[in-house]
Amino acid sequence: MMARISHIQTCFLLSTVWWICNTNGIDLDGHLQQLKENYEILAAILNLLETLERKVEQHDNLFIDLKNEQHQLKVESSDPILRTCSHIRATLPSQTSGMYWIDPDGQGIGDEPIYVYCNMSTGSTAILHDSESRISVSRCNDPGCYSRLINYSATIKQMSALAQLSNECHQSIRYDCTSSPFEINGIVYSWWNDRDGKPQYFWSGSRSSVHTCQCGIDYNCFEALSDCNCDSSLPTPLADIGVITDKNILPITRLNFGRTVLDSSSGIHTLGRLECTGQVAPVRAMPSSCEDLWRIGHTLSALYSVMGVAMVENVYCDFTKLPNDAGFQKSLGFGYVDIRSSPTYFYVQKNTTFYATDTPIPFEISKVNVGGAMDLKSGTFTAPRPGRCFFSFTGLAQFPFSSPYKLRLGVGLYLNGYLNGRSWVANTARNQWSQFTLQSTLNLDAGDKVWLQITDMSDGVYLYDSANHYTHFTGWLLESEETSNSL
Ligand SMILES: *[C@@H]1O[C@H](CO)[C@@H](O)[C@H](O)[C@H]1NC(C)=O
Ligand SMILES: *[C@@H]1O[C@H](CO)[C@@H](O)[C@H](O)[C@H]1NC(C)=O
Ligand SMILES: *[C@@H]1O[C@H](CO)[C@@H](O)[C@H](O)[C@H]1NC(C)=O
Repeated sequence: MMARISHIQTCFLLSTVWWICNTNGIDLDGHLQQLKENYEILAAILNLLETLERKVEQHDNLFIDLKNEQHQLKVESSDPILRTCSHIRATLPSQTSGMYWIDPDGQGIGDEPIYVYCNMSTGSTAILHDSESRISVSRCNDPGCYSRLINYSATIKQMSALAQLSNECHQSIRYDCTSSPFEINGIVYSWWNDRDGKPQYFWSGSRSSVHTCQCGIDYNCFEALSDCNCDSSLPTPLADIGVITDKNILPITRLNFGRTVLDSSSGIHTLGRLECTGQVAPVRAMPSSCEDLWRIGHTLSALYSVMGVAMVENVYCDFTKLPNDAGFQKSLGFGYVDIRSSPTYFYVQKNTTFYATDTPIPFEISKVNVGGAMDLKSGTFTAPRPGRCFFSFTGLAQFPFSSPYKLRLGVGLYLNGYLNGRSWVANTARNQWSQFTLQSTLNLDAGDKVWLQITDMSDGVYLYDSANHYTHFTGWLLESEETSNSL
């Protein structure tokens, strides 16, 4: 603009000089006066033009300015960033409506915070975009030949997170049309693309499978048999005004129109902001899923205990994902966690009689020994990592002699050489067989050693076994404390 002004001014001055030089002083004063007036008028016009142009530029740059402003503000602010305007309103009730930073997918993880308009009387969050004004569709014939990408001041992930946190989201769309139908004679000319880029043909409501407009829903379209005012073939100025309410597919990411070639044709679209209100029913009492934890603000991906239907359930929550994404929550079962990456459990048996004291009971048969933490020969279990471990032992005592005294057999569970607990049987009669058991749950550190050992044994009494297997020792490492994160 400046370059153009100086160019015009230069010409103007040059022509003035030329003109003055050629007037030979005839009525110079009058001409000069005239010139001066002309110049002032011209200067005023130029000034006005410049102002106008600046205004237009300013308007174009509004969106860019907004982004720059966002950047500056973000650099300055170090306050905790809440997730939606609704959260801000609930936390800081005295705030006024205006632009705020929010971080729907969680502060410190996922995408950068976003700058949005908060209406504090309703608690609604509005995401701005670059196509909010009335925009004319250029003239063309083919389906979707006019196509406009909508640029939002937030990423799709942040908008999806906002929608999942909110009770409802909507976006208004208006199309002013004259001889520019969405669909006519079975040909689809216009559609919009949803959050996932999927084409959609409904212009109000939430019935994504059918082509419809608000007048089609209300049965009051301009032509009784149409579903949209704009589908009329008559050259009459009409409009379809609708609100898309399916929060799972919003926002509208692209608008596509066609068949605007007739002399009478015109199409103007007006797209509202993505607006979301409320919070999905607050989490009451105990959280029962990763989604509940996500809603109340957890951002650390880890193992959590949540309230299952009847008992506490262990789940792994991946908060780098959103609740609707695959792999957001992995169930690890009830009561115990089967850590599939490194499970540890065993079940071993004996097939021979054993009667040595002061030494761990060895085992011959391994039914399962997942993780290899049980060493059969030494009969010793070594914890590969910290965790809770459940052990169960069953044995069969044989009393081959009758005795006036009680004969005994006892087996104890040892943790790092210390007797942790024992179980024993006593008898006086000959040829008695007594089964006895011992269960235990221990908190183990990595490297802790656990084994079974005979603690009491009368002469002639055995821990009996054969190919029929009467001795059972089983253990499960239930939960790894390193990765567990209880509430
Ligand atoms: C907030 O939303 C309500 C309802 O849509 C509207 O009437 C009001 O003007 C809005 N207020 C501001 C400050 O944007
Ligand atoms: C949207 O943003 C992209 C990339 O920044 C740009 O190329 C495109 O022109 C923008 N679209 C509109 C309609 O402004
Ligand atoms: C006990 O089991 C081991 C391992 O299967 C086997 O080698 C051994 O022969 C068995 N002993 C008896 C007495 O059955």
